[in-house]
Amino acid sequence: MQDFLKEYEKRRELIEIYLKKFLELEGVSSPLKEAMQYTIKAGGKRFRPVIMYETYRICGGRDEEEIMPPACAAELIHTFTLIHDDLPAIDNDELRRGKPTLHKVFGEDVAILAGDALFIYGIEVFLEAKSEPEKILKALKSLVKSLGSKGVIEGEVLDVKGVGMKPNQNYVKKIHAKKTALFISSCLEIGSIFGGANDEEIKKFKEAGFEMGMAFQIQDDILDIVGEKEKLGKEVRKDADKMTFVKVFGLEKSKEIARIHIQNAKKILKELPYNTKFLEKTCDFIISRNY
Ligand code: IPE
Ligand code: IPE
Ligand code: MG
Ligand code: MG
Ligand code: MG
Repeated sequence: MQDFLKEYEKRRELIEIYLKKFLELEGVSSPLKEAMQYTIKAGGKRFRPVIMYETYRICGGRDEEEIMPPACAAELIHTFTLIHDDLPAIDNDELRRGKPTLHKVFGEDVAILAGDALFIYGIEVFLEAKSEPEKILKALKSLVKSLGSKGVIEGEVLDVKGVGMKPNQNYVKKIHAKKTALFISSCLEIGSIFGGANDEEIKKFKEAGFEMGMAFQIQDDILDIVGEKEKLGKEVRKDADKMTFVKVFGLEKSKEIARIHIQNAKKILKELPYNTKFLEKTCDFIISRNY
């Protein structure tokens, strides 16, 4: 795992260089500029850009100017989802990435609008990819589909409406698929599109990404119970009234289901004619992480 973390760090550092550039936001007025920068500067694993970049790389992609705009766009947009997720009307959280949440610092009004701005700016950044128009279009279609009314936003609505509902296996699976797994799946899909994989391979990356994403959100639910605030950078035991995997299946069964998703993901990755070793290790990281 130590070697893996070193390798992960290398990729994360590259992402940071480009993110910093995209976060200059020259000409954006205060306090919008500072609010857009705040939660991104606070840190985070940069998981989505790392797996997108890795997928691109193993498929043969070599041009940072092609993949870094979409990879950074994924992080900008992911951060928007976190900012809105933390709002008083949604999860009402006060700590994110080890810092007070954006609305605590800039007020709810600016936090909502900075979230909106990051989402839209993410699309703008995505479109800076130096690539063929067909690839950009196909990849952007995958991204927006994973985010909208049949993706993250729908998942967030199911999540807030699940509060107080009777625990339901299909319902919680749908929440997780929508709010987290589709976006992570899209990151692998996008990486493989820009990397030049064929349609059949792209489909496999997408499937593997979905399995990874399900495990990722199940582990997030598990960490709300067994994790530590200091490591996670967010409050724990906040999901008491939420319909989480742990609520529906219990802790041990949730761990087992996450393991099965990871086995599925690795099996699909192994079938691909690329060096998927790092992505397979990333699969193990998803369910062994404590942050
Ligand atoms: C948290 O995402 C929200 C979920 C979808 C579980 P991450 O665990 O990727 O958070 P950061 O980006 O590292 O802060
Ligand atoms: C959020 O799920 C997923 C998003 C789409 C933002 P959670 O509400 O469980 O994420 P955390 O635990 O606040 O990071
Ligand atoms: Mg939430
Ligand atoms: Mg939350
Ligand atoms: Mg959570």
